[in-house]
Amino acid sequence: MNDMTPTSAERAAKLEGMGCKRKRVEDIRFVQGKGNYVDDIKLPGMLYGDLVRSPHAHARVKKIDTAKAAAVPGVVAVITAETLKTVNLAWMPTLAGDVQMVLADGKVLYQNQEVAFVIAESREAAADGVELVEVEYEPLPVNVDPLKAMAPNAPVIREDIKDKTDGAHGKRKHYNHIFSWAAGDKAAADAAFAKAEVTIKELIVYPRCHPCPLETCQCVASFDKIKGELTLWGTFQAPHVIRTVGSLISKIPEHKIHVIAPDIGGGFGNKVGAYSGYICAIVASIVTGRPVKWAEDRIENLSTTAFARDFHMEMEIAATRDGKVTAMRCYTIADHGAFDACANATKWPAGLFSIISGSYDFPAAYCLVDGVYTNKAPGGVAYRCSFRVTEAAYCIERAMDIMAQKLGMDAAEFRMKNLIRREQFPYTSAFGWQYDSGDYHTALNKVMEAVGYRKLREEQKARREAFKRGETRELMGIGVTTFTEIVGAGPSRACDILGIAMFDSAEIRIHPTGSGICRLGTKSQGQGHETTYAQIIATELGLPADSITVEEGNTDTAPYGLGTYGSRSTPVSGAATAMACRKIKAKAQMIAAYMLEVHDDDLEWDVDRFRVRGNPERFKTMTELAWAAYHEVPPGMEPGLEAINYYDPPNFTYPFGAYICVVDVDVDTGETKVRRFYALDDCGTRINPMIIEGQIHGGLTEAFGIAMGQEIHYDPEGNVTTASFLDYFLPTAVETPHWETDWTTTPSPHHPIGAKGVGESPNVGGVPCFANAVNDAFSFLGSTHIQMPHDHWRTWTAAEKLGLHG
Ligand code: CDP
Repeated sequence: MNDMTPTSAERAAKLEGMGCKRKRVEDIRFVQGKGNYVDDIKLPGMLYGDLVRSPHAHARVKKIDTAKAAAVPGVVAVITAETLKTVNLAWMPTLAGDVQMVLADGKVLYQNQEVAFVIAESREAAADGVELVEVEYEPLPVNVDPLKAMAPNAPVIREDIKDKTDGAHGKRKHYNHIFSWAAGDKAAADAAFAKAEVTIKELIVYPRCHPCPLETCQCVASFDKIKGELTLWGTFQAPHVIRTVGSLISKIPEHKIHVIAPDIGGGFGNKVGAYSGYICAIVASIVTGRPVKWAEDRIENLSTTAFARDFHMEMEIAATRDGKVTAMRCYTIADHGAFDACANATKWPAGLFSIISGSYDFPAAYCLVDGVYTNKAPGGVAYRCSFRVTEAAYCIERAMDIMAQKLGMDAAEFRMKNLIRREQFPYTSAFGWQYDSGDYHTALNKVMEAVGYRKLREEQKARREAFKRGETRELMGIGVTTFTEIVGAGPSRACDILGIAMFDSAEIRIHPTGSGICRLGTKSQGQGHETTYAQIIATELGLPADSITVEEGNTDTAPYGLGTYGSRSTPVSGAATAMACRKIKAKAQMIAAYMLEVHDDDLEWDVDRFRVRGNPERFKTMTELAWAAYHEVPPGMEPGLEAINYYDPPNFTYPFGAYICVVDVDVDTGETKVRRFYALDDCGTRINPMIIEGQIHGGLTEAFGIAMGQEIHYDPEGNVTTASFLDYFLPTAVETPHWETDWTTTPSPHHPIGAKGVGESPNVGGVPCFANAVNDAFSFLGSTHIQMPHDHWRTWTAAEKLGLHG
């Protein structure tokens, strides 16, 4: 080796593999406006669909007159439930085992529910047609309060299943009841509470909110009558699931359905499910024989496509006087709206909510969730969240603060005392989850040190004294959270959707010249998959990341996968990618042994090549081996260099984090300024630190929005009062605080590259951290819990209730 020969480290750096802050390759097209989104798809003869929606939250539909709409120039047809009935599509199955109206069938159950679909030559003509569809409604009593849903005389939401005593998840206790789901050991928890020294109980509400992707939900359906084939372009986070469900609903054979998810402008769970607009566009294309585009506007998006949260949690913690938790119990009412269209794995009607014991060593725990129907839009998606983990994290993190307050302990000290210790991993929680790895104390210590926690508490103490003396009207709040997630659905024994086991896949083809393509069943909506999967391959195969194309979102080319949500891409498809690489590498090793005339075992891997042990001058690089795979494979070996892997993870991964937030609250205006937000995340092995930082910044900004102002609010008549960005808080760069980020690295022991998911961590940990900070500002005045969101008005109201306005 001469001095000019690159070292292993130099060769590794050139690959831009795992750990490299590789620039996002997809941004080259995005920043130039060259992305290809659904709305960029324009097909010859394409028609446009628009939906007539109900102004009422609950009403009988007496009559629909489409004559005037049909007469609008450019309107081609108007579809109603009656039309859909002719093809047996007036109702569709939901992901949660319920059924849902595609278009209003006899009555409407929530405001803006889909009533009719107008198809026209242009978007404008369709909109004009919508205005002229005449619907006669007879209003019915409305209930939008989940806590009143199971009252004896509550309005009947679902007449179609009123008398059914069994639902998709067992016995129903009331005509508005969907399911009861329990986890943990009730007897053990009750026994611990019976002898508890200190207990707290609080109703903690996570209000209904909604993801805000830049791009709303949309699709183009094109049915080819000659071939009997449907091509569907759409904003789909899970294209294969859409294909399978589409086939089951429409009876079009699955091989005759081609689903394509092009570039997607943000998903956050909003683009997992199947919506009426999709079904109507498909039927419209079949009926007219022309392609049909449907795109919802912002109001439609915020008020009708899948909402998130709406969990009403009565939380209890028991502890010893010296601050050791002994048990927790939680009773939750989950508001699922008018149809149960929750996106959860089948066995988990309340998602992974039983991660609610969080990062703490609870000896006993129990939770019970009742799902109910109300006159609100259906949905219940994991908004940047793994199936209700966000609700769970918010609940336990608020409750831990409330208990610390009751015990007179510092919030961080109380956590330190109860965090699961490093040596307890793998740790089995009282709910039965096996946490794979963690080092919670190190994380919290690092954050406390970074922000100067003790000093901040001293400053807060001094500020409180000054407040009491009337010298300031500003209160200081310090929020602490130590959260644990559960991501990477999932082990197929635990998770399926409509019977399809939740695994995922990767197919890699290495071309003769050493470049290649990787196709996956996941679908990026902005997470940078084209960049990061290639980095895994670069490290695993010793080929430059730049030489690997990553392709997602085409069900004809990608192996079957369950899609991207719940931070599952890295834990599941990232693992599938690494495993497919290892199959390729094993074959390459045999080719290298043949070429170098040594035994396989005499070779060792060195960054981008196999070399002969003890004789490093003799080697074959992966690029050479790729060429050889197509030219001089050992006798009897199949040519080519490709592999596919379907990965069924042995367990979830459990990323975690420690966050601290400092706020200053003006009690006279309610204005809350975020002085500091420090977020430490541990997602195991880090593939691309820059992308991780971007994910954290985005997720924290969403968390800020949710905690400080977002709520999909309904008035008592069921009107959505927050269906536009005038009323629904979407933080811009002006309001968004400065984020400080940090990390520790605790690899997952069961993941091939030790990686855990990260995409949703900041949303999961961020929301309770903001909420804890605002609550902490008022806690010395005896306030235990102020409900989210903490907008200025609500904070002002909280101050008013505490008598702070004199
Ligand atoms: O499923 P989703 O892509 O939303 O979430 P994720 O698996 O947490 O990945 C989000 C992004 O962060 C992807 O581009 C990942 O490759 C990247 N990531 C990473 O660089 N290192 C990790 N340990 C986890 C995710």
